[in-house]
Amino acid sequence: MRFSTPLFSGAAGLGLLLVQAATAATPVNPNASTPARKLLSFLANTSSNGTTLSGQQELEDADWLAKNVGYSPAILGVDLMDYSPSRVQLGASANTIEDAISYAKRGGIITFCWHWGAPAGTNTSTSDSWYNNFYTEGTTFNLSTAIQPSSPGYKLLIRDIDAIAKQLARVKDIPIIFRPLHEADGGWFWWGAAGPEPCKALYNLLFDRLTNTHGLNNLLWEWNSKAPQWYPGNDKVDIVSVDVYADTGDHSSQIADYRALQALTGNSTKPIALAEVGNIPDPAQTLKDGAKWAYWLTWNGDFIRGEEKNPAAFKERVFASKSVLTLDEIPGVIA
Ligand SMILES: *[C@@H]1O[C@H](CO)[C@@H](O)[C@H](O)[C@H]1NC(C)=O
Ligand SMILES: *[C@@H]1O[C@H](CO)[C@@H](O)[C@H](O)[C@H]1NC(C)=O
Ligand SMILES: *[C@@H]1O[C@H](CO)[C@@H](O)[C@H](O)[C@H]1NC(C)=O
Ligand SMILES: *[C@@H]1O[C@H](CO)[C@@H](O)[C@H](O)[C@H]1NC(C)=O
Ligand SMILES: *[C@@H]1O[C@H](CO)[C@@H](O)[C@H](O)[C@H]1NC(C)=O
Ligand SMILES: *[C@@H]1O[C@H](CO)[C@@H](O)[C@H](O)[C@H]1NC(C)=O
Repeated sequence: MRFSTPLFSGAAGLGLLLVQAATAATPVNPNASTPARKLLSFLANTSSNGTTLSGQQELEDADWLAKNVGYSPAILGVDLMDYSPSRVQLGASANTIEDAISYAKRGGIITFCWHWGAPAGTNTSTSDSWYNNFYTEGTTFNLSTAIQPSSPGYKLLIRDIDAIAKQLARVKDIPIIFRPLHEADGGWFWWGAAGPEPCKALYNLLFDRLTNTHGLNNLLWEWNSKAPQWYPGNDKVDIVSVDVYADTGDHSSQIADYRALQALTGNSTKPIALAEVGNIPDPAQTLKDGAKWAYWLTWNGDFIRGEEKNPAAFKERVFASKSVLTLDEIPGVIA
């Protein structure tokens, strides 16, 4: 596919020219909305020569960056965690949809993860224990039985997916990079605890129900593991990613993970992302190694604010880098 129209008019102001090799990028949902299509093309295009979007988890940390480093991230990450029905029943409340809406109004790109509170089986002995109900150890919920359509657990999975669909419908005009069932292969979250097959079946259920039953055409589907046995397939995934929490001081390109993700898709042109990092990769190293990360997104709190993971002078250099795009450098990408 060739680009026929520029994605945004502000590009000239950045001194960036059209990338010659047009990059095919078509969402896996054939009914994807125009803003979702535009966003995927944008990510494929910018990443094709090593341009990376900056990202930050949580609005208050994005605001911290603006105030303390002088740059706002191009991407804001928020969590659907406390919209999980089991957590709402236990008293959780969330306003991350409001955060997403407010950042999108400023032109920011939005990505959602979902620390999905287990539909049932939460350990409620203390508030600390129920807080952890997205972890395998925080619940007795067993996906290998719940994924069977005849089981009571299946009805609860559907209940939860429908509850999240309701939240996603509130932002149906905003393209969203949706990253459900993250870090599944680690096994520390209940959705990964029963191995790859039940997890892939759950991903397929999510994809089918959100896309076909709820008609959520604003979603770009991001998968978050490099392990081949866990991959839902190129027909269900728009963006591939991993989460990397490298040792303190390691700001290398993570090129091995980049290549593993490329191989996972059979060397397709799907954008490849560092969906969560502790340490931001040094743009000089990613360019040198050819690790064309579409974006990286730093986790919240000390990961971004502290001196240990990303020292102040390093943060300033990274966000000022020509190959790292910030919020002010992506005008018009989000309509
Ligand atoms: C990407 O390509 C454009 C146009 O050739 C160029 O201006 C820009 O500097 C390139 N970015 C990187 C990171 O090489
Ligand atoms: C592709 O990306 C470059 C920046 O790397 C931008 O200047 C150009 O407008 C984009 N092309 C399209 C068709 O979006
Ligand atoms: C429930 O959580 C509490 C507090 O973390 C812990 O002590 C207890 O062992 C847990 N119970 C089960 C059955 O896992
Ligand atoms: C989940 O259920 C399956 C099938 O009944 C069983 O083999 C497995 O041991 C159970 N896992 C846990 C953690 O209870
Ligand atoms: C997708 O688009 C096709 C063709 O326009 C339409 O028939 C179908 O109902 C749409 N599917 C959904 C889930 O909206
Ligand atoms: C992908 O590219 C790598 C490195 O060039 C190559 O070794 C591998 O065979 C390619 N895989 C496919 C499916 O094309």
